[in-house]
Amino acid sequence: MKDFKPVRTAVIGCGMISKIYLENCVRQFHVLDVVGVSDLVPERSAARAAEFGVRQMTNEEILSDPSIELVINLTYPVSHYQVTKAALLAGKHVHTEKMMATTFEQAKELYDLAKQKGLYLTAAPDTFLGARLQTARQVLDSGLIGKPLAANIALSRCYRHNEWKKEEEKRFAFCPGGGILNDVGCYYLTALVSMLGSIERVCGFSSTWEPARPFLNPENPAYGKMMTYEDCPNNYAGALQFENGVLCGLTVTSETYGGGSSFMLYGTQGTLWLDDPNNFGGPLEIELKGSREKIALPLTHAYDTNSRGLGAADLAYAIRNGRAPRCLPEMALHTFEASCGVVKSGMENTTVRLTTRTERPAPFEPGHTEYPEAVMDL
Ligand SMILES: NC(=O)c1ccc[n+]([C@@H]2O[C@H](COP(=O)([O-])OP(=O)(O)OC[C@H]3O[C@@H](n4cnc5c(N)ncnc54)[C@H](O)[C@@H]3O)[C@@H](O)[C@H]2O)c1
Repeated sequence: MKDFKPVRTAVIGCGMISKIYLENCVRQFHVLDVVGVSDLVPERSAARAAEFGVRQMTNEEILSDPSIELVINLTYPVSHYQVTKAALLAGKHVHTEKMMATTFEQAKELYDLAKQKGLYLTAAPDTFLGARLQTARQVLDSGLIGKPLAANIALSRCYRHNEWKKEEEKRFAFCPGGGILNDVGCYYLTALVSMLGSIERVCGFSSTWEPARPFLNPENPAYGKMMTYEDCPNNYAGALQFENGVLCGLTVTSETYGGGSSFMLYGTQGTLWLDDPNNFGGPLEIELKGSREKIALPLTHAYDTNSRGLGAADLAYAIRNGRAPRCLPEMALHTFEASCGVVKSGMENTTVRLTTRTERPAPFEPGHTEYPEAVMDL
């Protein structure tokens, strides 16, 4: 067994998603040594610290502790820029929940800062590392569906925030740089970019349904007050052209009820039904030339349950082994530029050529053994 030192890690932001992160990062991903958690609301960090047997800390204590190497930023998105920047300036590697920031310019600034300081900055989503999308990647790379030609993203999820119980929750849904295209569309864009590589240009339209509306839930302290979607569209249609020629249509809305979502990749020899890329496992189906029916594909890779934090664990191996992390910083920046580009295109009545590009991240090897790299290293 090689001498392997887990990466000392702290989590900033102890809201809803911190529970599954801590379950995985404390109990499953032993490459991470989670030592502390913090939150603006001390009761939240106290509760998570007690639940997972780690130290309750303040942001300042985390940033000034030289033994902490990695910060996992699970704050809500309007805090991402500030928390990530402070952590990078304090010399920490960062894995942040999506999006990296609320504007592309701020995300680029963070990306440049990390490079300048020789630090890793990776971002969610990490669901593309799960069993379903890694199996899909292998199927695509094997040539089974032939040359990929086109893809389709149809995403509908109800975000009628005026019916929610808490005023401050999910503020990302109605601020600049937010909205469903960034909040959930990023899973679809990341999945496609991780399989197909860079997008060359995008175009689109967006609109905001009911930009001002009252809070409707009597249990919400803000009941009756007006909330505004500040420059934040909730309805989008767009098109993406990948560098490899694949064309993708995109329809995304957060203002309807039901309607479902679909996510497809079409090749010259067959079609892949990718289902919901917000999950690590789940159905993956294929219809091949000559066959008139879809068949379910067995998932050939590990991580088919909620493995949030896997990207941070992979980053920890990258830090120790001096390799590129799979949640490539370039990919996070690039997908964010793409979704911002759809909005920009509509506003400026033009096609937007992306200024960033990314390689495809290294795939996982097939097989159900978790942490192939851990087995190698430990
Ligand atoms: N909730 C989900 O289902 C889900 C799923 C995947 C990803 N995410 C992402 O995870 C992130 C967090 O989501 P959530 O649902 O847990 O949000 P949340 O609002 O429940 O929790 C965010 C927490 O961050 C804290 N916080 C904000 N700014 C801070 C700061 N400067 N310093 C310390 N703490 C600060 C808040 O007090 C809050 O407790 C978001 O980026 C979201 O997009 C959420």
